[in-house]
Amino acid sequence: MKQLRTPIVSVLGHVDHGKTTLLDKIRRTRVTAKEAGGITQHIGATEIPIDLIKQICKDIWNVKVTIPGLLFIDTPGHKAFTNLRRRGGALADLAILIVDVNEGFKPQTEEAVSILRTFKTPFVVAANKIDRIPGWQSSEYAPFLKSWAQQDDFTKQKLENKIYELIGDLYRFGFSADRFDRIKDFTRTVAIVPISAITGEGIPELLMILVGLAQKYLEENLRLQVEGKAKGTILEVKEEKGLGITCDVILYDGTLKVGDTIAIAGKDDVIVTHVKGILKPRPAKEMRVESKFQSVKSVTAAAGVKLVAPNLEGVLAGSEFEAVESEEDIKNFRERVKKEYEEISIQTDEEGVVLKTDTLGSLEALINELKEIEIPIKKAEVGDVDKRDVVEASANRDELNRVILAFNVKLLPGVEEEAAKYGVRIFKEDIIYTLLDKVKQWREEEKL
Ligand code: GTP
Ligand code: NA
Ligand code: MG
Repeated sequence: MKQLRTPIVSVLGHVDHGKTTLLDKIRRTRVTAKEAGGITQHIGATEIPIDLIKQICKDIWNVKVTIPGLLFIDTPGHKAFTNLRRRGGALADLAILIVDVNEGFKPQTEEAVSILRTFKTPFVVAANKIDRIPGWQSSEYAPFLKSWAQQDDFTKQKLENKIYELIGDLYRFGFSADRFDRIKDFTRTVAIVPISAITGEGIPELLMILVGLAQKYLEENLRLQVEGKAKGTILEVKEEKGLGITCDVILYDGTLKVGDTIAIAGKDDVIVTHVKGILKPRPAKEMRVESKFQSVKSVTAAAGVKLVAPNLEGVLAGSEFEAVESEEDIKNFRERVKKEYEEISIQTDEEGVVLKTDTLGSLEALINELKEIEIPIKKAEVGDVDKRDVVEASANRDELNRVILAFNVKLLPGVEEEAAKYGVRIFKEDIIYTLLDKVKQWREEEKL
C-alpha cells in the first residue's frame, strides 16, 4: 500500500461557537495521555497523530486505520474557508462544522454549509457547548453516550429539541442529518455529535467518526497519497520583522525543500521565485517574538509552514503554488491556472450582475450560489471593484441586473460616485450568506 498522507480537516463555524476551544482541548489531552505521541504545531494548523486520537477514543475505538493522523486547520471567524483552496476544490479533505447548540445556525454557519455543499466536502457537525444545557451533568472527556445516560429526562429533552432544530436547518440546505448514534450509513447522512469543547464530552465520538470518514472516502478517492511534486495553498501573506514579506502556506502534496523554485498563481500572472527559507513554529513555550520560528531544510505534506522568498509582493491569499523544475513546468502551470480561472470566471450571460470577490474559491462558491437562485451573471472576477465594473453593470437592460456584488473586496476611488451617476447598486459584504440575502431581498422589493 502507498503511503497515505495526513488528511486535512477544516474546523468551520460562526464566531465564538468554539472552533479554537475544541482544538485547544484536543491539544491539552496530550498532558494526560502520556504514552501518546507528540502533537506538532504548524503554521495555521495542528497535527494530531493517530496514536493520540486512539488514546482519546480508547473506550469506544472500533475502526482499523492506516492514516498517520489528522491535520486540523482552524479557520478564524472572519476568514473564509474559500481561501483554503486547491486544484479541483477545497483544500480540506473533511470538515467539522461547529455550532453552538444553544444558539443554533447563524449567518456564518449558513455560509459554511453552503460552501461545504459547493465543494462536496464530507463533514461532521459538532453540536457544541452541551455543558450549558440547563441541568447538564458533565463528566470530563467522557464519550457522549456515557454522559447522555447520566442525564435526567428533562435535560435530555432539551438537548433533543436543539438537535432537531439542527437537523431542520441542515435539511434546508439539502442535507439529511441525524444524531450520530442513530445513523446506519455515514456516507448518506450527516452525523451530529453533541460535544463540549470545555469538558471534552463527545470528543471521542467526534474524532472516531472523522477518522472513519477520512479512511473510507479518502482511501477510495486516492486523494491522500503523497506524490512527488510539492503543491500547496497560500493561507496568508505577511510582513515579518527581519524577514520581509513571507507567506504562510499549507503544503498538501509532495516534499518542498529550501532552494526549490516555485510558481505561484498571482492575480495577473504566475510569479516564479525561490524558496530561501522554510520556517516552522517552535514549541509553544518558546513562542518569544525573536525566536518564534525554527528553520528547516525540507517539509513533507501535509504541513503548515512559513515560506521566506523574494518577489512575494503580488501574491494573494488563496493562491496555489507548485514546485517547478523547468521552463516547461512553468508553462504548464501557467496554462493550467489560466484554464482553471477561465472555467470559473464565466462571462457568458449577456445580461446579468457583476460579481467581484477576493479569491477564486469565493468566486466559485458565489457563482454556484447565484446559479442556484437564478440570478444571471455577466461578469465574475477576482479583484477590487473599479469603474469598468460600474460601466458593465450599467449596460444591463433590466434594472435588477444593474448591480455589483462585492465580496471581501474594496471599492476603488471614484467607484461610488460613478455608481450613483449610472444608477448602479453596489452590495458589499464579507459574509457570503449576508450578501446573497441582501440581494435576494432587494430584488423582491424592486419587483413589487
Ligand atoms: P472565532 O475564532 O472568534 O470565530 O471563535 P471560535 O469559534 O474559535 O470560538 P472560541 O473557541 O474562541 O470560543 C468562544 C467562547 O466560547 C470562549 O469563551 C470559550 O471558552 C467558549 N466555549 C467554547 N466552547 C465551549 C463549550 O463547549 N462550553 C462552554 N461553556 N463554553 C465554550
Ligand atoms: Na472567539
Ligand atoms: Mg477561534
